[in-house]
Amino acid sequence: MALNVIVAKDYQELSQKVADLMIERIRQNPEIKLGLATGSTPVGMYRNLIEDHKKNGTSYKNVTSFNLDEYVGLPETHLQSYRYFMNDTLFDHIDINKENTYVPRGDVDDFEKECVDYENLIEKHDGIDLQVLGIGTNGHIGFNEPGTSFDSKTHTVELKPSTREDNARFFASIDEVPTRAITMGIDTIMKSKEILLVISGENKKEAVEKLLSGEVSEDFPASVLNNHPNVTVFVDEAAYPSANK
Ligand code: GLP
Repeated sequence: MALNVIVAKDYQELSQKVADLMIERIRQNPEIKLGLATGSTPVGMYRNLIEDHKKNGTSYKNVTSFNLDEYVGLPETHLQSYRYFMNDTLFDHIDINKENTYVPRGDVDDFEKECVDYENLIEKHDGIDLQVLGIGTNGHIGFNEPGTSFDSKTHTVELKPSTREDNARFFASIDEVPTRAITMGIDTIMKSKEILLVISGENKKEAVEKLLSGEVSEDFPASVLNNHPNVTVFVDEAAYPSANK
């Protein structure tokens, strides 16, 4: 089944289109279970969700959210932790009950338990209705690096040097970028009922090309999305291989 692809002219239009679809889904189902992502790409979309919440009153009171991943070793108060990012970028500006926002913990002693607990927590809520994803330049989704089994559940991973380099821009130096992360697995992600993959910028062009080739391989984690029945890929022209040619 071919992926449904929506091409936006630029980052602003991309962010608006994704936000519009999310708002529609939240209004259709005020108790929706959202899967949320971090990184630079969804920031514009979160900004639009906040603006809509303030202007139109879309409510998150009964919404539950599960984030994809977290760095191992960073406490929730660390400026680069994904929990901090989510509070700062979205949760602190809408009416969501923070107790219903889940991000895997990066500062626990027992990661095996944290992984099982997180997976069970999602199941206990009957799974994720709408999952937002970004993509790494190497095709990772969440922090599922190339080579991750498509059967994987929530687990801890060793980050690839290229991923640490990509994310070094958020830290004072590359040495401060954690070497491990905890992430939902590919199987966890694939169980979501609907998936929105958001991609922006020239540096993602190669990844988009691979994704849209339709070849499915564990060497390129995002390719698994070709096997999901309800995925929309939102891509801006800068990242879209056949645009501007
Ligand atoms: C990070 C996150 C991913 C994200 C990816 C792309 O490593 N773990 O969930 O999709 O990077 O990030 P960006 O949007 O900043 O390019």
